[in-house]
Amino acid sequence: MGHTKDFFKIKKGWSLQKDEIFDRYLVPYIAKILKTRRPLVIIDCFAGKGRFDDGHTGSPIIIANHIRSVLANDNQNKDIRGLFIERNYTKELETNLRGYENCEVLPGTFEENIGKILALNSRCNLFLYIDPYGIKCLDFQQFERIKAKNFSSLEMLLNFNSFGFLREGCRLLKLNYESLFSDDQSGDEYELDEANTKERMNNIAHGEYWQSIIDDYKNDKIGMFRAEELFLNEYVKQIKNLFTYVVNIPIRLESGNIPKYRLIFGSNHQEGMILMADSMSRIWNELKNIQRCGQKVLFECEFPDSSIQPGFDLKEGILNVLKEHKKSLPLQELLVKLFEKYGIAFSKKEYEGKMKEMEGNQIIIDREPAYTEGGRKATALDYRKYKITVSVKC
Ligand SMILES: C[S@@+](CC[C@H](N)C(=O)[O-])C[C@H]1O[C@@H](n2cnc3c(N)ncnc32)[C@H](O)[C@@H]1O
Repeated sequence: MGHTKDFFKIKKGWSLQKDEIFDRYLVPYIAKILKTRRPLVIIDCFAGKGRFDDGHTGSPIIIANHIRSVLANDNQNKDIRGLFIERNYTKELETNLRGYENCEVLPGTFEENIGKILALNSRCNLFLYIDPYGIKCLDFQQFERIKAKNFSSLEMLLNFNSFGFLREGCRLLKLNYESLFSDDQSGDEYELDEANTKERMNNIAHGEYWQSIIDDYKNDKIGMFRAEELFLNEYVKQIKNLFTYVVNIPIRLESGNIPKYRLIFGSNHQEGMILMADSMSRIWNELKNIQRCGQKVLFECEFPDSSIQPGFDLKEGILNVLKEHKKSLPLQELLVKLFEKYGIAFSKKEYEGKMKEMEGNQIIIDREPAYTEGGRKATALDYRKYKITVSVKC
């Protein structure tokens, strides 16, 4: 197990990827959200130093650079700012953010700064980047309080150490957790907290469900792989009380292993969800190809596609989702359901390409209006231009 004190020495593995995903997503997100003509506040809730000791940029500098480029461009809406909450490295963070406009460091813990978040004008669009070391600071109630403020829009990207939660759960429920996790070579930065309690874990999980999952594991009813999956399904149900649309991406450090992390994205807007899932899918595939070509070893993680088994037929996958929803769905909603079910295994373009192949055969696609302005039959799958419904062909 790694030590949190070494976290900022070298930026490696999963830290590189998650920030890259976040960085690339911010471009379309910021462009789109500023068009609402409302203020945008991006909050890095566990910000860190801003820069790693090896020179790599951390999430605060990534956010600050996006803010800088909005301010430098001729955007109509420049009402964008970043808030950076950090408990331990406030001084380093302030130094690293020097010269960046509209960026403010908020010293202290996430919990201590909730009041400042709640004091923001509810006209704001809010984006929360939540990247803690472990799980112990993720009291669910804080998310509920933010949600209750009814910001103009609220989106969240959470790096959730599900494996760390189960490890801590096993310890508290007095399982022989040391041997269970002894093969853990992940180099996770995980803060053990002897003062932790079951009640605190209930607050993090937003329920007691995790205890019966660990009991089932203890009684050999399920393996750890299944335990992680069940736990995550329940946790995502809780997150669904906060966000209408949730996509969760299991991150395995080695192929076939139990996911160590889950990258969880929540949004209340179909468009926000499609934008994030599509951009994550494209970025992940690009990174994978770069690595495959041996140009650069960016990560040692396995592609996150838990629901996709070898031989998976995407046509069947699309039909199954339609059948689960009365055999017919508006295109935008269908895309959201596909991302929710299959994670980021496929991009929007891949889904749309497959639907075009299926059109007239397995599915019917209705467009309204049915003709283009030039009088030709509409064929595009553009839900911004047409009202599009996709149905299973009887
Ligand atoms: C995983 S690091 C964040 C890394 C950062 N996202 C990056 O890319 O550079 C987590 C950070 O949260 C800080 N931290 C720990 N507990 C905290 C809390 N309760 N509230 C706010 N920050 C906390 C740690 O000092 C550490 O800098």
